Amino acid sequence: MKQLSIFYTLYLTLALCYSVNRIVALPQLHRFVDDEEENARAFIEEEERRLAEKCYDYTVASWNYNTNINDINQELRLNASLEYSKFAKLSWQNLNRKFKSWPSFKDPDLKRKFKKSTVLGSSVLPEDVLAQYNQLESDMSKTHSTTKVCAYQNSTSCNLSLDPDVKKIMKESRNEQELRHIWTEWHNKSGNLIRKPYEQFVKLSNQAAVLNNFSDTGDYWLSEYESATIKEDFEKIYETLAPLYKQIHAYARAKLRDVYADQISSDGLIPAHLFGSIFASSMDGIYSLLIPFPDRASIDVTKELNAQRYTPLKMFQKADEFFTSLGLIPMPEEFWKESLILKPKDREVVCHPTAWDFCNGKDFRIKQCTEVNMKDFITIHHEMGHIQYFLQYKDKPFTYRDGANPGFHEAVGDTLALSVQTPKHLKEIGLLDEATPIDDYETSINFLMAIALKKVASLPFAYIIDKYRWAIFDGSVDISRYNSHWWELRNKYQGVKPPIQRSEENFDPGTIYHVASHVDYSRYFAATIIQFQFHRSLCKEAGQYDPQDPLKPLHNCSIYRSKAAGTKLAAGLAMGASQPWPEVMKSMTGQEIMDASAIREYFKPLEDWLTIKNAALGEIPGWP
Ligand SMILES: *[C@@H]1O[C@H](CO)[C@@H](O)[C@H](O)[C@H]1NC(C)=O
Ligand SMILES: *[C@@H]1O[C@H](CO)[C@@H](O)[C@H](O)[C@H]1NC(C)=O
Ligand SMILES: *[C@@H]1O[C@H](CO)[C@@H](O)[C@H](O)[C@H]1NC(C)=O
Ligand SMILES: *[C@@H]1O[C@H](CO)[C@@H](O)[C@H](O)[C@H]1NC(C)=O
Ligand SMILES: *[C@@H]1O[C@H](CO)[C@@H](O)[C@H](O)[C@H]1NC(C)=O
Ligand SMILES: *[C@@H]1O[C@H](CO)[C@@H](O)[C@H](O)[C@H]1NC(C)=O
Ligand SMILES: *[C@@H]1O[C@H](CO)[C@@H](O)[C@H](O)[C@H]1NC(C)=O
Repeated sequence: MKQLSIFYTLYLTLALCYSVNRIVALPQLHRFVDDEEENARAFIEEEERRLAEKCYDYTVASWNYNTNINDINQELRLNASLEYSKFAKLSWQNLNRKFKSWPSFKDPDLKRKFKKSTVLGSSVLPEDVLAQYNQLESDMSKTHSTTKVCAYQNSTSCNLSLDPDVKKIMKESRNEQELRHIWTEWHNKSGNLIRKPYEQFVKLSNQAAVLNNFSDTGDYWLSEYESATIKEDFEKIYETLAPLYKQIHAYARAKLRDVYADQISSDGLIPAHLFGSIFASSMDGIYSLLIPFPDRASIDVTKELNAQRYTPLKMFQKADEFFTSLGLIPMPEEFWKESLILKPKDREVVCHPTAWDFCNGKDFRIKQCTEVNMKDFITIHHEMGHIQYFLQYKDKPFTYRDGANPGFHEAVGDTLALSVQTPKHLKEIGLLDEATPIDDYETSINFLMAIALKKVASLPFAYIIDKYRWAIFDGSVDISRYNSHWWELRNKYQGVKPPIQRSEENFDPGTIYHVASHVDYSRYFAATIIQFQFHRSLCKEAGQYDPQDPLKPLHNCSIYRSKAAGTKLAAGLAMGASQPWPEVMKSMTGQEIMDASAIREYFKPLEDWLTIKNAALGEIPGWP
């Protein structure tokens, strides 16, 4: 459910490139440091402007491909990408040559811009290698988006696509044989096809990282966090959350045993096909099996959305209304005109939802194959959070038009969605019946369970995708263990095992969009932690949360219509990447770290309930 903005993929690869086509001659001698800084400032500002223009051209080609997959558009996109890279590389060389002394610049802001601009990304590769790199990435992504699988017990029906067919079956079917069949089809087909290209891709990607003076691709990705201890910090956060995750895992296991008795064995691991998600990435798909109080209100308002004849457009309008209720920027006209919010019938598209910044300060779009259901309603808020961030920092210098760290960008929409999903708010917008009681203990436990299955249950997954790739990229895991290492991590951190024996013919991590499309994932891990910090801070601002008041618990807060909360949020977003993230975090939350105490506090009532429940069921949290 956590989606990434394509913008980032573009940005990391292509940003911060400076033109060589400048005609204005620079002074040959820089007698005074200040003169040089003055020149550097003028130079970089002009280049940022040109860069934004080039970025637009490339983004258009990329959009055209993503919303209309065919060979011509793939070629046009690859061509546009190469052209951009060439431009980027030449200008970057020019910049480095002209301003060698940037590390001793006095103006910290100018120095920060230069520091960011000495990282060129994959454009640093020799042209023929870069073409190969782009082709591999494009092919893997295409394989992922276009793989089709066969239906259960019907080998004449082999046209099931990931979105929506496969995802829907994994969520809705309770037929173990069918789940097993679809799981195997998808993993054997999409994953196996990606294995060989991925092995090759790892080499090229590392080559690019080394040319950027990083030790490998993982090192490059982590540099975005501007912290030497980030790996240890992530591990600590995981450990802080593990007790809560293990309670949820144990409860799910007990409930799954009721339905699929022979599938849950004494090893305590949950087979991946029973998670309610093709990737076993979260457990919200099996909420109906785990709902604590089935006779009380549920916040899955899918039925109500359909009963009220919501359309995808109306869902987008409702989401926009939440943003503007906080005094935030409404989605602009171009957004409503150009976004793709329905899966087209006449062509293949990349359905994975994404938010796009066309770099010209005007054009912002979402691409989402929207279905009318609660899950997609929340995804819309997530994607719109990206657009809001784009809008807030659109007038910043190009170099700073980015999240404070990768997690910040993913956290914005989710933070709002924490309010949107409260029973209180759903009632307010007419999606929960007026007569439904919502102030009772049982309803709040149901609510917390729904949120936890999505967020807490996804955290170990969000952590290991990159923990896995760090090990692939730094060579500590070699090709002969690509698939088995994945399952070692799944087993250790997630308590999950494959439903059938896997081999090194397979490449199960390659079935995930972010692996096939080479997008880092720790951003979602960070975002899940950060959004609860944001929520806690904004709720205080809105007067909806008070740690001393038992009637104002964190999970019960909605910031709807709070201009004070909106102002605080907007101020942080408008900073973009102009400051190191701890500064931005401080202005938004008073804290300078990513800290799991807010998420633990939010779920405390559920954790207490689970602890008692699991003990009563004799279900011991964890797995040997
Ligand atoms: C899809 O791309 C093809 C080839 O570029 C083009 O002819 C066609 O008009 C496009 N379709 C849409 C709906 O944009
Ligand atoms: C892509 O670039 C190649 C090499 O410059 C060129 O031959 C080809 O026609 C271009 N493709 C398209 C679709 O414009
Ligand atoms: C199998 O799939 C085909 C094509 O989708 C369909 O026409 C047929 O009814 C299906 N058969 C069964 C038994 O479901
Ligand atoms: C499979 O789906 C694609 C588009 O999703 C369509 O073009 C094609 O005709 C379908 N094939 C069959 C056999 O139904
Ligand atoms: C990497 O470091 C070398 C030597 O310090 C330098 O010449 C080169 O420009 C650097 N490359 C990048 C991409 O920063
Ligand atoms: C899927 O892959 C596994 C492991 O390589 C293999 O044993 C199994 O036969 C494959 N199943 C199908 C249906 O292709
Ligand atoms: C949540 O807030 C409402 C008022 O907005 C209050 O009536 C209710 O008791 C609160 N629920 C809990 C669990 O504290």
